[in-house]
Amino acid sequence: MKHFVFDAYGTLFDVHSAASKHAGAIGPHWERLSQIWRTKHLEYTWIHAASGRHTTFWILAQRSLDFAAASTGGLSDDLKAKLMDAYRTLIAYPEVAGMLKTLRSRGATTSILTNGDPGLIAEAVQAAGLGALLDHVITVHEAGIFKPHPAVYKLATDRLACRPADISFQSSNRWDAAAATVYGFKTVWVNRSGAPPEYPDMPADHTLATLADLPKLYA
Ligand code: LAC
Repeated sequence: MKHFVFDAYGTLFDVHSAASKHAGAIGPHWERLSQIWRTKHLEYTWIHAASGRHTTFWILAQRSLDFAAASTGGLSDDLKAKLMDAYRTLIAYPEVAGMLKTLRSRGATTSILTNGDPGLIAEAVQAAGLGALLDHVITVHEAGIFKPHPAVYKLATDRLACRPADISFQSSNRWDAAAATVYGFKTVWVNRSGAPPEYPDMPADHTLATLADLPKLYA
């Protein structure tokens, strides 16, 4: 496999690391708040994509945090600002850097294809020290529409000047892997949370628990 393209949020970066960092200030329900925050954030992107509207990932992160806070008893403006600040520099999963190095040592390209805004994803990549391990960071803003619109997946084949089947696309979001399969990528579902199977008519080619074993899949 020549090209490896990765979803960012949830796949390379732990979206729950923002709430985890401030768990003490949020209280014992921090995980529930973080789950609602993530679920609503994604829902907002889908509704924008399905209705042909676009905005920034950042704005939708703020709106979904407002919803999550309001539905779990509320948060101070100061704590919401701290959570949004932590969202800029989410922690990368521990296997990510080593896995990218292994793929690149074989001559493969490694890229990100994300809903994240260009500045936001650049900050996360830099904070995690992944900049030198990535060939391309592609954001949906070039297409003007969020995932899972096919125009987003086409950004990767256009940038890499290859066929869909020349790309292995990794995502921890099962819906993202489903849409990528429909587009024609080889797909790997990174089932970090041990979720049950979904989308039987849009199967991922492979399922992994983390990205650690990705190099072995195509050894
Ligand atoms: C992304 C979201 C879907 O990085 O996690 O595109």
